Amino acid sequence: TRIFLDGADPEETRQVIKALGFLDGQTTNPSLLAKNPEAQAHKTQGNKFSATAIYQFYKELCQELSGLLPEGSVSIEVYADETTPVAPMLEQAREFDTWIPNAHIKLPTTTAGLEAANVLTGEGRRVNMTLVFSQAQAAAVYAATKGAARGAVFLSPFIGRLDDRGENGMDLIKNIIRMYGPGDGHVEVLTASVRSMEHFLCALAVGSDIITAPYKILMDWAEAGLPIPGPAYIYEPSGLAPIAYEPLNLDGRWRDYPIAHPLTDAGMAKFSADWNSLIDMEA
Ligand code: E4P
Repeated sequence: TRIFLDGADPEETRQVIKALGFLDGQTTNPSLLAKNPEAQAHKTQGNKFSATAIYQFYKELCQELSGLLPEGSVSIEVYADETTPVAPMLEQAREFDTWIPNAHIKLPTTTAGLEAANVLTGEGRRVNMTLVFSQAQAAAVYAATKGAARGAVFLSPFIGRLDDRGENGMDLIKNIIRMYGPGDGHVEVLTASVRSMEHFLCALAVGSDIITAPYKILMDWAEAGLPIPGPAYIYEPSGLAPIAYEPLNLDGRWRDYPIAHPLTDAGMAKFSADWNSLIDMEA
């Protein structure tokens, strides 16, 4: 299992590398970008970025992170709302790929995002499919990126946001790992939206390929001496409804899977709102 930091503050990255003695990568998103201390200061002073300056800010941030993690991966998320077609996603992705040598481009797991992933992996680029909340979405990602090299495709199921609405998000991780089992391994499961040490330890115990966790959890894990629980680790969240395994076929056509999910739509709306909160629309 590789360990990533979920955040957009290079100071945290430096501290986590020091505390753990390693770090395999970092994931960013527009909400995390909006919480970056420099971006916050900018906002508090009543300044907003122009539509081009925000990309420059994001670029410099990703370049700093990439410099701290030269052997790792840095996920950079495209700006997209539910109306964004494929072309601007491709344009952003190709631009982000020029910023750093170790980018994974984050795309929403929607029809347009899957189409972009299909094109980008065909060009040999790396993607991280985000806002995953169902096994059908995971099967569609597998089908849309078939032929990609191992390591080129990350799949990010958001467990905390499923927990938030009373469903046991960790079940989705287990179900996807089981479904991908007979596959060719070209999609790696990246457990995201990790909210607690229990989530983190359970994701380790079930063998998630990658886990991205916030600063506090990684620092607590370092403090505890980097424990790695075995498969017998007991995780019994209370009050969360189990998510049942669906016997889905991985060999379908990606457009045929029922991928719509309300949390994907809500997630895109929040990401685009947080991105837009940094921008002066008049400039
Ligand atoms: C990282 O890839 C995700 O964007 C992040 O883990 C989402 O976490 P949240 O649900 O706590 O916002």
